[in-house]
Amino acid sequence: MMERAADIERRWALEVFPKRDITLVRGKGAEVWDDEGRRYIDCVAGIGVASVGHANEAVADALAEQARMLVTCPGIFYNDARARLLEKLASIAPEGLTRGFLCNSGAESVEAAIKFARLTTGRAGVVSAMRGFHGRTLGALSATHKAAYREGFGPLVPGFSFVPFNNAEKLRAAVGDETAAVLIEPVQGEGGIRPASAEFLRAAREVCDETGALLVFDEIQTGFCRTGRMFACEHHGVFPDIICLAKAIAGGVPTGAVMANDRVRLPPGKHGTTFGGNPLVCAAALAAIEFMQAERLAERAEALGARFRERFEPRMPARVRALRQIGLMIGVELRERCRSYINALGDAGVLTLPAGTTVIRLLPPLVITEPELDEVVEVLLRVLG
Ligand SMILES: Cc1ncc(COP(=O)(O)O)c(C=O)c1O
Repeated sequence: MMERAADIERRWALEVFPKRDITLVRGKGAEVWDDEGRRYIDCVAGIGVASVGHANEAVADALAEQARMLVTCPGIFYNDARARLLEKLASIAPEGLTRGFLCNSGAESVEAAIKFARLTTGRAGVVSAMRGFHGRTLGALSATHKAAYREGFGPLVPGFSFVPFNNAEKLRAAVGDETAAVLIEPVQGEGGIRPASAEFLRAAREVCDETGALLVFDEIQTGFCRTGRMFACEHHGVFPDIICLAKAIAGGVPTGAVMANDRVRLPPGKHGTTFGGNPLVCAAALAAIEFMQAERLAERAEALGARFRERFEPRMPARVRALRQIGLMIGVELRERCRSYINALGDAGVLTLPAGTTVIRLLPPLVITEPELDEVVEVLLRVLG
């Protein structure tokens, strides 16, 4: 008999994730199947990546076609697929963010944003929020508050400080003429699905304008229709100088992007990447974004998020402390630790993930059907009841 993938991985991986004993081998839309043929509704979606659905035909076709044309083309040359993606990103990005830098992951887009802000302002300070999450590389980690992620990796990058999320007064006090950037998530994902208040975002915009710091929104998890808008900052009409993007941008192909306005100035030669903006990922991203627009996934996320709330909230089991939902970014906060319930949900055929120790996070593909979403609600009610 062939050895199980799980056993092979356990032997050979330099493991960084605590693993669940499920081996996923195939997906379609919002469904995935394991190596024994068992089907799950996937509310993990690659951690908020597979918004256009697993095995999306448009993305697969674009990848196959581009793979036969040209896969790699460094940034020292121009390229047609890259040009079309940059034009598309500029057309959908929040107000004024018309210039893009393409990279390979969320953390890399945060790194680039920090470097661009330091270079533009000539200052070092970065103010971010407690409970925020910006990635695992040293710069992004320095902007990430949670001690468990930081411990053991010091010394981290100097110049970073934190304010309590949604505390406008403390934010105003923390930003000054040494601040290069204020870096925040419009909805904290890893921190437990916590939306920023309009007041907090407006204060961030104002204090940046007053002090000359750049406002950076990390929309790596919230971007590309997840919250019911193309970008979450549109809910409050507060727009940053730089936005960090990744996750859903290219239908699952590793890609990140930074979009910036005219305040951001970059002399050529100061930053770079080998793979970033290669034609293969650009073709995939273009296909994924066109699919989001054609299928109106932002509206769909908003409507299905409301449907989830309508069905779940009135019947919420006693062990649920709170439901936080914005589009199809859903957090079910328990009065106890969530890990055993996440395992039980998996056993019942619904994959979910934690955000901290007590919040069950659901980030389903935005193409999830109504019957699939209703099934998720019923399984949640049964497992948590
Ligand atoms: C808000 C936010 N920023 C940054 C990151 C880091 O992205 P990546 O894992 O692609 O480096 C994540 C990943 O979960 C995220 O949710």
